[in-house]
Amino acid sequence: MNKIIIGAISVIFLLAGCSQEKIDTEETPDKDFQIIAHRGASAYAPENTLASYELAEEMNADYIELDIHLTKDGEIVVMHDKDVAKTTEGSGDIGNYTLAQLKELSANYGNKEKERNPKAEAYKVPTLREVFDQFGHQLNFMIELKESKTNHGIEEKLVDLLKEYEMINKDNEKEPKVFVHSFYEKMLKQVHELNKDIPLLKLIPFDEGETAELSKEEIDDLLTYSSAIGVGHKLLNQAFIQEMNHKGLLVYAADVQDEDAARDMKRIGAKGIFTDRPDLLEND
Ligand code: G3P
Ligand code: CA
Repeated sequence: MNKIIIGAISVIFLLAGCSQEKIDTEETPDKDFQIIAHRGASAYAPENTLASYELAEEMNADYIELDIHLTKDGEIVVMHDKDVAKTTEGSGDIGNYTLAQLKELSANYGNKEKERNPKAEAYKVPTLREVFDQFGHQLNFMIELKESKTNHGIEEKLVDLLKEYEMINKDNEKEPKVFVHSFYEKMLKQVHELNKDIPLLKLIPFDEGETAELSKEEIDDLLTYSSAIGVGHKLLNQAFIQEMNHKGLLVYAADVQDEDAARDMKRIGAKGIFTDRPDLLEND
């Protein structure tokens, strides 16, 4: 009788062990899949403003993506286009504005309907320092370097700021606090030259309708400085992602704006997605 009871208890423990293992396995891809709020939660708030990052944080984004430029007086500020006309009431190159002049503008131009935050400050052009001060503890950052004449020297300034704010992980086990990404190989190589601990993501341009493909030479060159690539999601397939992972490159899917595409990217093994809608998988 005792033997029967002991046997039954063992079976219960074994089953409990199996189901625990099954749950962990199922949860692993979810935990690892990263939502990168492209220019903040830019589908719902003016892009690259503190308001759009606040919303991305509320929506539990893993990273906020932001684009950086240098002002005339050498401050790193956040804006997508180098011409301020797209998002503010001003016009001309951002590099021709001092920080004080830039702060007189509002970065929600033509986007009034997306305004939810009552504070005007939330819609000013933010400096990277202000973003780190407000979100540095709770969020991770995917920072994009844009090439332009007035951005000369931005790589050094960025690396110095990342060091000052202690944003560079030394521990390879942890998710990086910061990724630097760009279409411009030269800028990424310059960052790598300055600090080899900063993880880099190279954006790869492909033409619409193509399938992602990289030659051995291209992959070998990428591996000299980069640990990840970003590719438009329509060009991705599982075989390509597996090949890149096998070679040592993580693959992030860009411009994912609907739930089906997001789930598809997760299914085929993308490490994460860039999206204007960081809430698009909130029901999963
Ligand atoms: O795809 C991600 C990205 O940061 C590049 O896009 O919006 O800066 O042109 P964008
Ligand atoms: Ca960008």
